[in-house]
Amino acid sequence: MNCVGHIHHGLWKHPRDNSVDYRKPGYWIALAQLLEKGLFDAVFLADIVGVYDVLGDGIDVTAREAVQLPVNDPAYVVPLMAQATQHLGFGVTANLTYEHPYLFARRFATLDHLSGGRVGWNIVTGYLDSAARGVGLKQQIDHDDRYDRGDDFMDAFYKLLEGGWEDDAVVNDRVRGIYADPAKIHRIRHDGPFYKVDNVYNLTEPSPQRTPVLFQAGASKRGNAFAGRHAECVFTGGQDRPALAKMVAAIRGEAVEAGRERDDVKVFSYLTVVVDSNERAARDKYDEYLAYASPEGALAHFVSGAGVDLDRFGLDEEITDEKLEALYPGRLRRVGEARGGGFAPGTTRRKLLDARRFGSQQAPIVGTPSQVADEIARIVAETDLDGFNLTRTVAPECYRDFIELVIPELQGRGLYKTAYEEGTLREKLFGAGRARLPGNHHGAQFRHGHQRSGHR
Ligand SMILES: Cc1cc2nc3c(=O)[nH]c(=O)nc-3n(C[C@H](O)[C@H](O)[C@H](O)COP(=O)(O)O)c2cc1C
Repeated sequence: MNCVGHIHHGLWKHPRDNSVDYRKPGYWIALAQLLEKGLFDAVFLADIVGVYDVLGDGIDVTAREAVQLPVNDPAYVVPLMAQATQHLGFGVTANLTYEHPYLFARRFATLDHLSGGRVGWNIVTGYLDSAARGVGLKQQIDHDDRYDRGDDFMDAFYKLLEGGWEDDAVVNDRVRGIYADPAKIHRIRHDGPFYKVDNVYNLTEPSPQRTPVLFQAGASKRGNAFAGRHAECVFTGGQDRPALAKMVAAIRGEAVEAGRERDDVKVFSYLTVVVDSNERAARDKYDEYLAYASPEGALAHFVSGAGVDLDRFGLDEEITDEKLEALYPGRLRRVGEARGGGFAPGTTRRKLLDARRFGSQQAPIVGTPSQVADEIARIVAETDLDGFNLTRTVAPECYRDFIELVIPELQGRGLYKTAYEEGTLREKLFGAGRARLPGNHHGAQFRHGHQRSGHR
């Protein structure tokens, strides 16, 4: 994330951490080159457009611990990293709720051009009331309505990028003096329930992928249905493996419902790793990291999504559904750790802080390279996940450790590639010849003259 503190809050204070350099181009260039050395598919850039201002009804903890504040725009660092690498992909999070498809399509097409077809868009709909207030709304648009708007946004987005310019619209003939053939550039009309694009030409010529690789991050039923229709990669959370397995199956099921194949969607989850050459060293490293972690920062992060100020509870006071309902009528659905809302009986603020002692809800795998590889293999076997999104702890040390210690171990077991494939990000993920959205994807029907097929 283009910020100081992302998921494991407080670790920016570690003397070997360089996250405070996030404003400098060299930070991103070095990161990209390191990840490419490790054959990472992509660097995934999370983003928020609001502020975690709910805990204590302000930003005291958020500002002190740099809990995703300050946060810069993720898109602008992509060309820096693209210029310094050849193969690394870029998953850029952007919240569509506060965008319009017409200009947004141009921004992502520009990134796809500048990266040579290596960009992905992580579609999110937001979860912060502060973001809504920032753009003049009283509060967030309701959860499922945000996804309804998202479906409409996507159709306009596909029309612009897939349907505007035919593949051979650009002639680039200096002798005849024709850059583009006007007969092959089509007007776009979109008259949806939420977005209108009226009789206008798309601004950009076709980029290598046209539509960026579509990522989606979300975990609700409505979110899964959205993913089934649109997402090619889904980033999902959760530590509970049976729940994760159910989630993966549900997402693949939604893809099939939408006329796609189960493996047309790649599903990733968080992974936090603290690794060293022997068990003792890994434990010591974890203990050393822990000394800098900010459980309070993690709580400030967590409660803003839920929209309830848990500072209104004593440290050892039980946080019950009744008390939450009295303080925040109608909010229970958004609160808590369980889907459907609420906390387990006996939950207190102290317990929530204890569970976040590494500055996050994410528990790490701590161990030797072979222990970490065992665990990764076990998670994949138990959940059917396709891959992982490695979280930042103490950076860039955490990436370097993973690359130098874990990746050779995974490669030795045949669990990790030994070279990049050629081509765009979509081809690297799904195979040669698949630079564009496949024919069975919802977005393909918006191509000029396209007949939708059941085939990829
Ligand atoms: C693993 C994961 C990562 C997410 N990353 C982001 C993010 O970077 N920015 C953002 O605004 N929302 C992010 N979200 C929030 C979702 O996009 C979504 O807005 C929120 O989870 C509510 O939708 P849901 O109920 O379908 O999960 C993330 C959600 C999950 C599960």
